[in-house]
Amino acid sequence: MNKLIAGNWKMNGSLAANQALLAALAQGLGVKPACDVAVCVPAPYLAQVQSLKVAAVDLGSQDVSAQTSGAYTGEVSAAMLKDFGARYAIVGHSERRQYHGETDALVADKARAALAVGITPIVCVGETLAEREAGRTEEVVKRQLAAVIHTNGHCISEIVVAYEPVWAIGTGKTASPQEAQAVHAVLRAQLKAASDHPARVKILYGGSMNAANAASLLSQADIDGGLIGGASLKAADFLSIIAAAQ
Ligand code: PGA
Repeated sequence: MNKLIAGNWKMNGSLAANQALLAALAQGLGVKPACDVAVCVPAPYLAQVQSLKVAAVDLGSQDVSAQTSGAYTGEVSAAMLKDFGARYAIVGHSERRQYHGETDALVADKARAALAVGITPIVCVGETLAEREAGRTEEVVKRQLAAVIHTNGHCISEIVVAYEPVWAIGTGKTASPQEAQAVHAVLRAQLKAASDHPARVKILYGGSMNAANAASLLSQADIDGGLIGGASLKAADFLSIIAAAQ
């Protein structure tokens, strides 16, 4: 299966900066890179990135409402994202869980809302530093993924999972390839038990992945790509990570 390298721009960008970044990616990637590439952009820029039509780069959002429509001020529905050509929606990013109180159950409902319109949810799971130090990593990521499996049943083979240890996000600390692979293997086994087509599910690693460490992470048996924050904002770095995935 193709690896997937997805950029998570978080709350960064501007019309001018996005255009420059996309132009540099288009030039660096050519028409058909040998892996899947996506950028998950702030909602107001979906229209811009859609209209720039970079064939090699799929579009994603960073969140989606669990609701379909109605009186939910500030929310963006899956159908709206679909209108603007989104192929992916990140759900359950640790920053949403931490700053917006998103629970496992809400994340599972968001994944369901995305799947209902044909958008692939990129479901983020990961332990905090305290949880890792307490030896609870496996328990935490399994609980987070179990909620999504429970709510989404046989559709589970249509999701992407991103293992993002919270202590590695934006900190410059990366899980070693072996540490990451160990957790990916746990998630793979959990997906195998839940899905008819477990081989279809990509499991991405995220957390300070960069041009220097991407190749060793991406060479692990169960690491099928990356979810890239900081390094996705610089075309040269993002292109190096993509090169490492091919
Ligand atoms: P980072 O972020 O690459 O800047 O650590 C990854 C993420 O939060 O998705």
